[in-house]
Amino acid sequence: MSMTNALNPIPSTRVVLFSRSADIGYIGEALRAACPVLDVVRWPDPACASAEVAIGWDAPPGIYQQLPALKLVHSIAAGVDNLIEGQDLQGVPLCRVVDPRLAEGMVQYVLWGVLHFHRQFDAAIRNQARQVWQRPVQTRAASCRVGLLGMGELGAAVARQLTALGYSVSGWSRTPKHLPGVKGFHAEEGLDAMLPETDILVCLLPLTPATQGILNGRLFDRLPEGACLIQCGRGRQLVESDLRAALESGRLRGALVDVFEREPLDEQSPLWTAPGVWVTPHMATMADTATVVEQVLGNIARLHARQPLLNQVDLARGY
Ligand code: NDP
Ligand code: OXD
Repeated sequence: MSMTNALNPIPSTRVVLFSRSADIGYIGEALRAACPVLDVVRWPDPACASAEVAIGWDAPPGIYQQLPALKLVHSIAAGVDNLIEGQDLQGVPLCRVVDPRLAEGMVQYVLWGVLHFHRQFDAAIRNQARQVWQRPVQTRAASCRVGLLGMGELGAAVARQLTALGYSVSGWSRTPKHLPGVKGFHAEEGLDAMLPETDILVCLLPLTPATQGILNGRLFDRLPEGACLIQCGRGRQLVESDLRAALESGRLRGALVDVFEREPLDEQSPLWTAPGVWVTPHMATMADTATVVEQVLGNIARLHARQPLLNQVDLARGY
């Protein structure tokens, strides 16, 4: 029996859903509803041994070795660090989600953070708590320099929207990028050049060995005094003790942090109450279930038709 999607027919295929930290059963239900020929099982059901496709978030250690029939791994998210770190995919391709609605959510989140710091809502909120009436100095968007770490699907979308609103936007990437109105920087020298010209630093990098711990005291010291941080990449990019020290010393004025080394953030974490820190629960954006299902089905169809997969991750780069 087969089922037709927009591209190619999908023959009956066993699919395994896995996650060691999240309940992603809703993806299985949506997949079955969209494509009843899929035989969806949940890891660690013994039937997973014959699964050709694995779909997940936060892979259990050594999972791919338990799936000898595997031909495709699909992320349900944009970031894939927790599917590849410490794992051997043995040449099986890995695809991720690239969703315009994911970018829309990220643009809104970053815009909220940029406005918060640029328009000094942080000062107004602090003053309200003390019943102080004081109008913070307001400056034009053009004089607020936003530096983006990461100029991929999300970073580029954020850069376009902030530029349209008149902000002075720079972007750092591994390879050179040319976006209208955006000052591009790349490689280590580029970071050295961009940081001193950045009032609000936004991290939209994937977590890889090269970006782990990148948001550290040495980086904060290269920002202008009183700069702000918006961190929406992955928790392990930020050295939390360095952030607290930079806030205490006044090197940084404030930080909006959405992602943490351990999520949910431990209730003992000093970040909850650190002055100048705004904690949000990994909510910057999330892939739409319908889009995840559409992209997974599209790639399963492509796999069977031996066509190039979409949004395939470069495992050597790690993103
Ligand atoms: P992309 O893969 O499209 O883009 C990654 C960008 O980072 C590219 O511009 C890349 O450079 C750059 N980059 C990677 N490594 C380096 C490096 N060592 N030095 C300099 N630049 C580097 O990813 P997305 O934009 O789709 O997503 C980015 C990340 O956002 C995800 O991996 C995830 O961690 C996070 N995320 C967070 C969410 C949240 O809710 N907080 C939601 C969704 C994603 P180049 O272009 O040269 O390759
Ligand atoms: C993602 C996320 O990577 O939600 O998509 O963090």
